[in-house]
Amino acid sequence: MNDTIRQRFLEFAYGMFIHYGLYTLYERGEWVMSKERMSNEEYFKVIPQFKNHAFLAEEWVGIAARSGMRYAVLTTRHHDGCFIGDELVGSFCDACRKHGLGIGLYYSVGDWSDFDFRGGAKGPNWGRFVEKTHRQLKELMTDYGPVDYLFYDGCPSPQSWKAAELHCELRRLQPGLLISCRCGLEEDVASSEQHSGSHAGLWESCYTLNDSWGYNRYDQNWKTPEKIIELLMTLRHNGGNLLLNVGPDGNGRIGEEEVGILNQVKAWLDRNGEAVYEVVPHPFDYKDQEISVAHGNTAYIQLQADYRGPERMICGIGNRIKDITLLSTGKKIGFVQNADKLTLTGLPFKKKDELPRVLKLELDGAPFGIHNPMWPEDHFRVC
Ligand code: GLC
Repeated sequence: MNDTIRQRFLEFAYGMFIHYGLYTLYERGEWVMSKERMSNEEYFKVIPQFKNHAFLAEEWVGIAARSGMRYAVLTTRHHDGCFIGDELVGSFCDACRKHGLGIGLYYSVGDWSDFDFRGGAKGPNWGRFVEKTHRQLKELMTDYGPVDYLFYDGCPSPQSWKAAELHCELRRLQPGLLISCRCGLEEDVASSEQHSGSHAGLWESCYTLNDSWGYNRYDQNWKTPEKIIELLMTLRHNGGNLLLNVGPDGNGRIGEEEVGILNQVKAWLDRNGEAVYEVVPHPFDYKDQEISVAHGNTAYIQLQADYRGPERMICGIGNRIKDITLLSTGKKIGFVQNADKLTLTGLPFKKKDELPRVLKLELDGAPFGIHNPMWPEDHFRVC
């Protein structure tokens, strides 16, 4: 992987995960086929009602772009083994290119509707399953132009489906491709699910916006914009991206509720985005114990939600600080700096319902942290 591709992924920062497939029509999540032990005949009978118009993908990607997201990952085939169709995948890739978003394609190797797969790696027709998997993935990496990211899910052990051999071929087809470590090999991008992991190298955490990946009409447990912003900042502080899921409904529409939440996050990004995209993680080597990121000699610190002002201390910053402002308004914040103790004075109180606030600190040079004498020097492993 070259540095440009690496850098590009790091700066994607915030992306849209889209779960859309036949399961969508059942309106109770993407695992419905397996959970309810549906036969292929039963499950696939909804195919004629499945909407795969090109304009839907254009709509999804448009929402992602307007939400400040810089990449999108579409489920081309989930565990039900059903491809969502050339038209949708093709228009999704075109729309991403048009809007300047990175293109991610999700593919589940595991396939509930394939009896060769169900028979297991020791079963008589496993070879046929492996051939099919290779053929489909090669098609996916051939038919739609350059793809940035292959997101795997539901993978059996990588040796059993000759993942390493396959990847040599995929990389020939797509020289710039990033491959997800979810295949079980140490590839390019690690990914955690529903928790904020921290990995060496490129990584992201994917989260649902409510509690479901595929459309679930009964699930109204939406995350608040505040929660999403906190997740985003925490992930950026730890060096990862946030891949946030939406589940369009049976008409292929992303619900108003979801769009409303994304819009509020976007309004916050409009004022605070410089603390999110082109930043380096934990600039003070975690010695500040804050959610911090930096760009050059500028550091950004997110004030924790429980903070109520007007005075607050931040310890562990090694630099002299030249200036502090509230990023969203540009208002100057008074401060006193004494060795490794920085006391902020005159911070405005956080208003009820105000979204997380970020401080912008102009430093005298490249950020560095100061050791906390209460811990031995080598106590924390710094990533
Ligand atoms: C899990 C689920 C799957 C979902 C995925 C998203 O692996 O099995 O349904 O697509 O998480 O990362």
